[in-house]
Amino acid sequence: TVPVIVDCDPGHDDVMALWLAAGHPALDLLAVTTVGGNVPLEHTSRNARIALSVAGVTDVPVAAGAPGPLARELSTAEWIHGENGLGGPDLPDPDAGASPVPLDPRGATELIADTLAAASEPVAIIATGPITNVAVLLRERPDLVPRIREVVWMGGSTERGNATPYAEFNAWVDPEALDLVLQSGIRFTMVGLNVTHRALVTAGVRERLAAIGTRTAAFGDELLEFFCRTNDEVFGMPDGPLHDPVAVAVLADPGSVEVARTRLDVELIGSETVGATSVDLDGMLGREPNAFVAVGIDVERFWAGVEAAVARLA
Ligand code: BDR
Ligand code: CA
Repeated sequence: TVPVIVDCDPGHDDVMALWLAAGHPALDLLAVTTVGGNVPLEHTSRNARIALSVAGVTDVPVAAGAPGPLARELSTAEWIHGENGLGGPDLPDPDAGASPVPLDPRGATELIADTLAAASEPVAIIATGPITNVAVLLRERPDLVPRIREVVWMGGSTERGNATPYAEFNAWVDPEALDLVLQSGIRFTMVGLNVTHRALVTAGVRERLAAIGTRTAAFGDELLEFFCRTNDEVFGMPDGPLHDPVAVAVLADPGSVEVARTRLDVELIGSETVGATSVDLDGMLGREPNAFVAVGIDVERFWAGVEAAVARLA
């Protein structure tokens, strides 16, 4: 199994990413950290705890990280995820009930550092929001780099954006953090919109997930109903693209996502293109490749993995 930490900003698709990481037999979820992104940090931290509590995952610590980007104001996405970040279901109190998940008193950097130190092998970090926490970790604790197996991040695109014409939301919110992580030399995989826009929540996908019949599946169905509605309203995509779990699938089931080794940079100063990812798939720039970038997905296999993982939870 691959030991992983998930750094997230739940967010509907982040919840499904947490469930895939917690429920997939190929992964060992060691810790969860949160960042301000889809909604402010207070909500993403609570939502991450709700996601684990609903799924009955009570042995994974959750710590809050950066409230906003390294060098910019936080921009949020309530129009997709609702005011509290998890529009749709009635949200339970993650501190109460049969499977409480309290907020760890440590900050994200401290929790990640402790987790890396305690692990018997290097740990992968899966980031499904603005990549601020990983950047802060690398800045504050460069000594930990050898303990990080790799970073897999949902964000960016080889094509167009969803926050601006050419920038994907997670890249656009904190491009300086992405730049810093890219410069670290850590093995890095970008899972962008060019692939996640194929992981569509179709009616068939929803039926199969709902048919699992568990508490987690029922909660997930309410989330997906809301998520598909807002994606329809905002992007005209009634089968909403479930971005974040695709980053988890890269480690859970590597055969389900095809990656290419390439040069990856992020735009920091464009007048219209801040946060756009430059993916040199054709080698035009003649620069050293510095990343893997997802270029294909086996959609059926991806959903089968998500279904199986959700079925293993409460
Ligand atoms: C990304 O932005 C967020 O809204 C989603 O959770 C996902 O991480 C997609 O652009
Ligand atoms: Ca996210």
